[in-house]
Amino acid sequence: MKAALAALLLAAWPGPAVLAEPAPPWADARLGPDRRAELAVAAMTLDEKLGLLSGQFGLLMKRQRPGEPRIGAGYVPGVPRLGLPELFETDAGLGVANSPSMRPGDTATAMPSALATAAGFDPALAFEAGAVMGAQARAKGFNVLLAGGANLTRDAWAGRNFEYLGEDVWLSGVLAGESIRGVQSQGIVSTLKHFALNSQETGRYVLDARIGEAALRESDLLAFQIALERGRPGSVMCAYNRVNGPWACENDALLNGVLKRDWGFPGWVMSDWGAVHSTTKAALAGLDQQSGREMDLAPYFGAPLKAAVQAGEVPPARVDDMARRILRSLFAVGVIDRPPPTKPEPIDAAAGAAVAQRVAEAGTVLLRNEGGLLPLREGLRRILVVGGRADVGVLSGGGSSQVWGTGGTPLRLPVPDAPPELSFIQVTYQGPAPLQALRERARGSEVAFVDGRDLAAATAAAREADVVIVFAEQWRTETADLETLALPGAQDALITALAAAQPRTVVVLQTGGAVLMPWLRQVGAVLLAWYPGERGGAALARVLFGDVDAGGRLPISFPARDADQPRPLPPGLDAVRDARAEKARRGPAPAGAPFDISGGVKPFAVDYAEGADLGYRWFERTGTQPLFPFGFGLSYTRFGYAGLVLEGGATPRVRFTVTNLGARAGSDVPQVYAAVAGADGRRIRRLVGFERVTLAPGESRSLQLALDPRLLARFDAAQPGWVVAAGELLVVVGRHAGDRVLQGLLPMPALRLRP
Ligand code: BGC
Repeated sequence: MKAALAALLLAAWPGPAVLAEPAPPWADARLGPDRRAELAVAAMTLDEKLGLLSGQFGLLMKRQRPGEPRIGAGYVPGVPRLGLPELFETDAGLGVANSPSMRPGDTATAMPSALATAAGFDPALAFEAGAVMGAQARAKGFNVLLAGGANLTRDAWAGRNFEYLGEDVWLSGVLAGESIRGVQSQGIVSTLKHFALNSQETGRYVLDARIGEAALRESDLLAFQIALERGRPGSVMCAYNRVNGPWACENDALLNGVLKRDWGFPGWVMSDWGAVHSTTKAALAGLDQQSGREMDLAPYFGAPLKAAVQAGEVPPARVDDMARRILRSLFAVGVIDRPPPTKPEPIDAAAGAAVAQRVAEAGTVLLRNEGGLLPLREGLRRILVVGGRADVGVLSGGGSSQVWGTGGTPLRLPVPDAPPELSFIQVTYQGPAPLQALRERARGSEVAFVDGRDLAAATAAAREADVVIVFAEQWRTETADLETLALPGAQDALITALAAAQPRTVVVLQTGGAVLMPWLRQVGAVLLAWYPGERGGAALARVLFGDVDAGGRLPISFPARDADQPRPLPPGLDAVRDARAEKARRGPAPAGAPFDISGGVKPFAVDYAEGADLGYRWFERTGTQPLFPFGFGLSYTRFGYAGLVLEGGATPRVRFTVTNLGARAGSDVPQVYAAVAGADGRRIRRLVGFERVTLAPGESRSLQLALDPRLLARFDAAQPGWVVAAGELLVVVGRHAGDRVLQGLLPMPALRLRP
């Protein structure tokens, strides 16, 4: 049986025709990825190994290989002599990204933002979305997807928050892991990124993120660790910034220490594009591959690495290790045994759109619903839709994750006041338009639209309508942070005026994270759609009319004021402004000057003084009321929780029953929090479990959640390892981070766990 399987596998070996029989020893899948990688590396010359370690910016392929369709963010040569594949790498976590300059006209499913996925609190759906992205990347011939963003949201204003999964360790870790598992289920590698503490865009190429070791382990690193264990990504991408001194991509403590030694990561560390600063130091600290080398000041892992090996600075065994780690992941994930097509094949756009719609529906959060304004009843005479380009499309976030959706890209606007480094980014709207979806769904009702620029006309129209749906938007992008959480432009004034004219006003927010809502108490309802992806309009229409419950919950806290955050403004704004002014003063760089991705911004440090108490934990610690707490979200029905049973031990368990007490089917996310003592002995809540349930009216479900004991522990850096103190922990089941429906004491034995 086994022999027959081996013969089959060997026959399927995709090595090049020049390969003489028999197939090379590493073609035998029975040997496992480690042994296969070892055998392949043993057959390689030093130059072949070094070739694998140095990636180029993918766009350059356009010149080098005219007609090559697989133009993405990165390219790494293979070893054709040995049948080892080239790497074609593409962004990212919201679908197969593209920019007009890369693959003109090539579209993929534009998924909702990662934050919308996180709001679904649904690991199975995160897996499905990952599988769609993996399948589409594969169909287009890519074998590495630069997905798996898992940085925790430390600052509500951060530009890339829409690409990440929120502020909680457990939610973020589980969903990132499932999404990566989904991508890799399609036989292509996913990364996990950006390792670590790339928490802001302002000065990201130069800043030093400072935090204590225990606090880092208990927060951002634990989220990465959980994602790594669940998702087993083939690669981890190290970040641009420094972490406690050394650059993330030459950080021995992080790469060799935490990732490879403590967590036993067998795959490869690739750099972010422009994040490498040295040859020997980086190679010895654990970086395995330089990506997009043209973005660094030097091709550190090309000729300089060869010279370092020849000079005895980098042992040949380390180069073997670097190459082995890459090949190991390619074997483990299936890239070599099941290679993607070399010529793009059509994607299943309909299947992708269906998943995108389910993710958008699951992640839509109902924040306010006065007097049961929502769901909208059938047969309304006149619905007025206002603003937010609802007549054109849905908003998406900017940067390397930008997808050209299969529903069209009807509007692209230049970034207002864009500095030169933002010139490749556009404010992009995905089709189809929400207005169209609303008109289709609102059978029999007149659905009118005004853009809202003429306030008097908009309020007059609002008075004439049965219901007003006003779209408000906040655009975010990679490379820039927000300087306030307030809605830009005159949107607050528009909403206030409409609400005064028409109490039945529903605000639909399209945002990349938290926003301020000075008008909150004046409006009838608020629905948070995030960046909802190409089926966002259809999803929204279904939620507004109650065809599906508004089942999303907040994966981030919403502060009531800018000032209520640990850092009300992005640190380093001055440094960035100074560098821009200096550049403008100096004029264009002389021809031949090396490209400096940092833009000359002077280094600065960001002190993460809140430590592991970020997000809702920080609000609790400082006694500040958020506008909306983490985990919050209303439903069209009501749910009750009962029968809490707590069982301590090495794998603690929580049991309780959730019941739909209302008259319509709906979705809920009961959340379990434990109050765990932090560094100063004060007990602060941590999310330790959640489950999304969809129940018919009157239906009950008994839930049993196994808790990861690390969530109940303190990290002891001296040991090092996780320590759970013997004693009773207060455990609360509630609807959000500030809620308490059930509570009990969880008896825990003393536990010591490996780091
Ligand atoms: C981003 C990464 C991305 C890479 C390649 C970088 O600027 O930080 O997330 O994968 O570019 O496009």
